[in-house]
This record gives sequence, C-alpha cells and structure tokens, in this order.
Amino acid sequence: ERFDATGLHLLPGAIDVHVHFRDPGYDYKETWETGTAAAAMGGTTTVFEMPNTHPPTATADAVADKLERAEANAYVDFGVYGLLAENNVDQLEALAAAGVIGYKCFMGNTFGNLPSPSTGAMLEAFERIAPLGLRTSLHAETASIMAWRYERLRAAGRHDPLAHVAARPSVVAVEAVARAAILSEWTGARIHVLHVSSAAELRPMAEAKARGVDITAETCPHYLRLSTEDYDRLGSVIRVNPPVREPADAAALWAGLADGTLDMIATDHAPHLPKEKHNDVIWDADCGFPGVETQMPLMLDSVNAGRLSLCDYVRISSVAPAKAWGLYPAKGRIGVGADADIALVDMNRTETIDQNQLHSVNARISPFHDVAVTGVPVHTLVGGRFVMRKRRLVAEARGHGRNVKRIQNMSKANIQNADRTLAAEIAKTPEKS
Ligand code: NCD
Ligand code: ZN
Ligand code: ZN
Repeated sequence: ERFDATGLHLLPGAIDVHVHFRDPGYDYKETWETGTAAAAMGGTTTVFEMPNTHPPTATADAVADKLERAEANAYVDFGVYGLLAENNVDQLEALAAAGVIGYKCFMGNTFGNLPSPSTGAMLEAFERIAPLGLRTSLHAETASIMAWRYERLRAAGRHDPLAHVAARPSVVAVEAVARAAILSEWTGARIHVLHVSSAAELRPMAEAKARGVDITAETCPHYLRLSTEDYDRLGSVIRVNPPVREPADAAALWAGLADGTLDMIATDHAPHLPKEKHNDVIWDADCGFPGVETQMPLMLDSVNAGRLSLCDYVRISSVAPAKAWGLYPAKGRIGVGADADIALVDMNRTETIDQNQLHSVNARISPFHDVAVTGVPVHTLVGGRFVMRKRRLVAEARGHGRNVKRIQNMSKANIQNADRTLAAEIAKTPEKS
C-alpha cells in the first residue's frame, strides 16, 4: 500500500519520561487505553509511567499488575517506574527484577500523598540502586519547607491565586536538587530531575553536571509557555506541582534547554476530572493537567515561532531521553526508537487546541484550551505500524504497545520466544563484533 507523506516532516516519535496514567486505582481519571491514545494522537511513541497509582507501584506484584494492564491496552511503547519510598528500600532489587524502567522518588508531597523518604532512606536507596545502573527520577521539592510554608499561609488567610506559588518558592526545589545531586555524587546512582520550573534550579543542575554527576533534567511545556501572568485568567486550572512561575523563569528555562543544562522536554501528564480542577481555593484543586497530547503541537509551534530549531526539538523530545535511559541499540539487542517509532508532522498546519477533543476523555481540561498552534503531528507509527493516521486514532492498534524494558533485555539467544516481526527486525540489525 502506498503512502503519501508529501509536505510532511519525519521525526522520531517523542519519548515522554513523565506521565501519570492513574491505572490502577484512579482509573476514573485516566486509563492505559485513554492515556496511550492521547500519546499516539500527540506524536509520542514511548511513555514512562509514574508510580503514584493505587496501590503505589512499590512491590514486584504491583509492577507485574501494572505491566499487565499496560500490555493489554497500550497504543504506544511504555516503561513503568517503581516507587522509591521510606518503607520499600528492601524492595528495590525486586522492582528491578520485575522490570521497572527506573525509580521515582517523591521528595515532596503531591497527588497520591505518598510520604517523602528521609535523606537517610534516600542514601541507602541510592547505594542499592547504583550497581543496578537504573536511573531515579526525582520530584525535587523539599517536603519540610513546604509544610511550614503552607501552614504559615493558611494561618495568614492567603487564598489568592498566587498563594500556591508562595507556598512552593523556588528554593524548595533548589534545596532538593542540590541535596539529591550530593547523594548521587556520593553513591554513583544516576538521577533525573523532573519538572524543573525555575531559573534558580539551573545553578545546582549546572554545578552537578560540571562535577560529573550522572544527572539529567526535564522541563515541561507549561513552564515554558505559561507564567504568573496567567493565574487570573486560568484560576485553579493552572494549579500544578511545582507551580508555574514568573516570566523570567520561563525565559531561563528556554535558555537552559538551549545550552544543555536541561536535557529534555516531558509533559508531567497529570489528568484529573474537570470538577476536581475547579476550586475557589487554588491549593484545594487537584494538581496538574493532561499534557501528552498537546506537547508536540505546542513545541512545534514554538519551533515555528523561532524559540528553538527543529533539530533541537528532536534532541530534547527523543534523542536525550533515549540516551539517558539507554534505549539505543546495543550489541545483540534491538533499540527502541530505532524500530520505526515515527511522527509525521505538518509544520504549516494550524489548529486550535480544544480540550473537549482530548483523548484523555475523563480529564478534558487544559490550560492551553483555545490556543492556536502551527505544527501538528498528522500520523504516528509505533514499531512501524500506524497508531494515528490522518489525525485519527487507529483503534486496532490498541494493545500493540510494547514494554521497552522487555525489548531492551531481549537478547538474540532468547529471541525464539519473541514475536516473529521483532525477530526479523533484530536479525537485520547490524552487529559489531
Ligand atoms: C502530579 C499528579 O497529579 O500525579 N501532579 C502534578 O501537579 N504534577 C504529581 C506530580 O508530578 O507531582
Ligand atoms: Zn512531581
Ligand atoms: Zn508528575
């Protein structure tokens, strides 16, 4: 069958290392089916999913259960994070054996109310993780500072839109990034800083990189394209942890992506019901919003606006996450992202983001509702097959997304058990001796 891609750009599909798909436990907000459908529609071909589900992904059983749900329903490839918490340090090796893509450590409180580990627990966890070679992604906000701040602001009766920013000042993240970087340096454990929101965090990031710490970082479209100037307009919909900050922070984050202090773009796709997002008291609204479907159009629009080049976009959306998580082909192994995970995009097409069309059907609320963007993914292929075609989801592709960890670990020796297409692809992969 012939396929016409005239006028389109061919990009590697985006790899989003930070999504919350809520399944199990909060599947009234999102499921593996709806979350990965949204990814497919957004040109994202691989997602790494977070452990603040219910039960949290803190045991080998929980990992196995989540992987089963994903394998049955996913439109795109996926990895699953294991939780690093105070009470599961003894489980970390078992989580690795169960096939996690890495660990997630909530240093500060956020949705799911998972208690943050002490520095002692983090140190032991990093000592145990270092020899495993897996990366730990950090919600880098210091819980004790925030607890104090929230208490003081509540006592003072502050309920204005910017109270949420005041409760989580940048130093909350700066302190956490610097502390995590020291623990990483001490133990050799690889780390990744999630949702960098402020200019101030760039300094401990740059310093850690200069010291040779194996540290990577992401920021998200909402920190680049929104600011404190949007709080009055958006109300509690804009509530997200960490908060959207000043215009100068957004400018610094763009610069950080350009100079490599920040490695990649992720979405922190955090779906909640519209009614959970609306609250007169901003910090009583649920935190976060869907993002996996709108990342690529928003960023391509920024490419068209001259904020970054298309090559830089490919670097931060695909190359950097693939490198950081070792998704490149290695000897005797197939590489994820190197097996036709593709987004075909129309850089000249303009569309208005409509939250009512989001494939996160239960969480149709976005701070980018009604924003016109130029640059839209038109077709998405995962492992060489269409999952979105002409801006429509390919329903038959449900359940064809693969666990990237399983593919990564698949050597030629045990390939007999793999499906035949994959085996054929691997046979064609050139191997250096
Ligand atoms: C995330 C969620 O809802 O799971 N919310 C958010 O505001 N970012 C949790 C998180 O990433 O902190
Ligand atoms: Zn977080
Ligand atoms: Zn998150």
